[in-house]
Amino acid sequence: MLQRTFSIIKPDATERNLEGAILDRIQKTGLRVVAMKKIRLTREQAEGFYHVHKERPFFGSLVEFMCSGPVVCSVLEGEDAVTKYRELMGATNPANAAEGTLRKDFAVNLEANSVHGSDAPETAAFEISYFFNALEMIG
Ligand code: CMP
Repeated sequence: MLQRTFSIIKPDATERNLEGAILDRIQKTGLRVVAMKKIRLTREQAEGFYHVHKERPFFGSLVEFMCSGPVVCSVLEGEDAVTKYRELMGATNPANAAEGTLRKDFAVNLEANSVHGSDAPETAAFEISYFFNALEMIG
């Protein structure tokens, strides 16, 4: 099923100039980039994006980290895009990430884990609309 998912290349990765390496790996899976922007999140934007985690102990630190440098937001399209991208990313904690995954190869730690991807199609719909409008997606 043709599907869209949402991706963030996080500040730890943009800081190390890894956008191209990560996008190359994404595109090699066959997923297509249908929208993309590099931005610096405000605290309010980061808090709103991660609102489902607001009661978690790591929320404050996560928001701080996500605002600490630029991020690259993109919308990826392809067959089973949500699952395909989550498989490419690997486990949230790089210590548990499988060989050949983005987090295994690039992540620094559980928080600075280089990439974010939607965990379900419903989440993808919210996350895509949080950053992009329909006119900004070409695919
Ligand atoms: P992400 O997939 O963007 O979703 C929530 C983020 O919170 C996660 O990646 C990590 O960057 C961060 N995080 C920090 N601590 C934890 C934790 N204990 N469990 C899950 N996510 C965490």
